[in-house]
Formats: sequence, structure tokens, C-alpha cells
Amino acid sequence: MKLGRKDLIFIAIVVAFFTFLFWGTGKELGPFVPEDATHREFYQALAQKEKRKDLEKGCPECHQWEFLPKNHPPKEQCMFCHLPPES
Ligand code: HEC
Ligand code: HEC
Repeated sequence: MKLGRKDLIFIAIVVAFFTFLFWGTGKELGPFVPEDATHREFYQALAQKEKRKDLEKGCPECHQWEFLPKNHPPKEQCMFCHLPPES
């Protein structure tokens, strides 16, 4: 099969798409959560199959939205991006 113009364009789009995807995931992840008693509790509960959504409700108790940096991604699933120290 000969590669036509359309095939090349298609491949370029696919490559661009995946570059974008992986680039994005790397950037989105926030700093690691400190290894202290407060935070460890959350991630141990997560390991014991607690619902992530319920656990995350506890984060803003100390980390209110107003005090996060201005460029912080506007999403509430904290534990999606903020991973435990050395998983
Ligand atoms: C009881 C209060 C409290 C709760 C609840 C809490 N944190 Fe924290 N968190 C802190 C304090 C205090 C610090 C800063 C101390 C340190 O760096 O060790 C901190 C630091 C952090 C940092 C590091 C910030 C940086 O600049 O590197 C992240 C990320 C974080 N917390 C995420 C979370 C997430 C996600 C949750 C919910 C699962 C959570 N925290 C729940 C008090 C809390
Ligand atoms: C989409 C991914 C994402 C989600 C969801 C997310 N964060 Fe972040 N967070 C980041 C990134 C990226 C940074 C680093 C931002 C920067 O330094 O400019 C960050 C930084 C932080 C910091 C450090 C702030 C500082 O002063 O250095 C804290 C604390 C934090 N996030 C807490 C939370 C909490 C609490 C939630 C849930 C309410 C949350 N994050 C949800 C990506 C995320």
C-alpha cells in the first residue's frame, strides 16, 4: 500500500494528539503530598478502598480554595493530581 497525502495527515494528527495527551498529564500533576500523619491518614484510607470523592471533602478543611495559588487547576478531585509520597 502506498502512503497517500491523506494517510500522512492522519498520522500527523495522531502523533500530535498523543504528544498533547502525555504532555498534558505530566504538567497537570501537582506536588507530592507531604509524608506526615495528617496526609498519611487520607492515603491509607484510600488504599483501604474508601471512596476518593468522600476523602477529598476533608482536604479543603485546611486547604481552602482562596489560599491555593492563582494558577492552581480549578478542579476539586485533589487526590487525582496530588499523589501520596512515593507510592
Ligand atoms: C489537618 C490539616 C490538613 C488536611 C486535612 C490536609 N492537609 Fe495538606 N497540608 C497541610 C499542611 C499544614 C501542609 C504544609 C506542611 C508541610 O508541607 O508538611 C500541607 C501540605 C500539602 C501539600 C504540599 C504543598 C506544597 O507546597 O508542596 C499538598 C499537595 C497537600 N497538602 C495536599 C492535601 C490533600 C490532597 C489533602 C486531602 C487528601 C490534604 N492536603 C489534607 C494540612 C492539611
Ligand atoms: C488537575 C490537577 C489538580 C487538582 C485536581 C488539584 N491540584 Fe493542587 N496543584 C496542582 C498543581 C499542578 C499544583 C502546582 C501549582 C503551582 O505551583 O503553580 C498544585 C499545587 C497545590 C498545592 C501547593 C500550593 C502551594 O502553595 O505551593 C496545594 C496545597 C494543593 N495544590 C492542594 C490541592 C487541593 C486541596 C485540591 C483539591 C481541592 C487540589 N490541590 C486539586 C494540581 C491539582
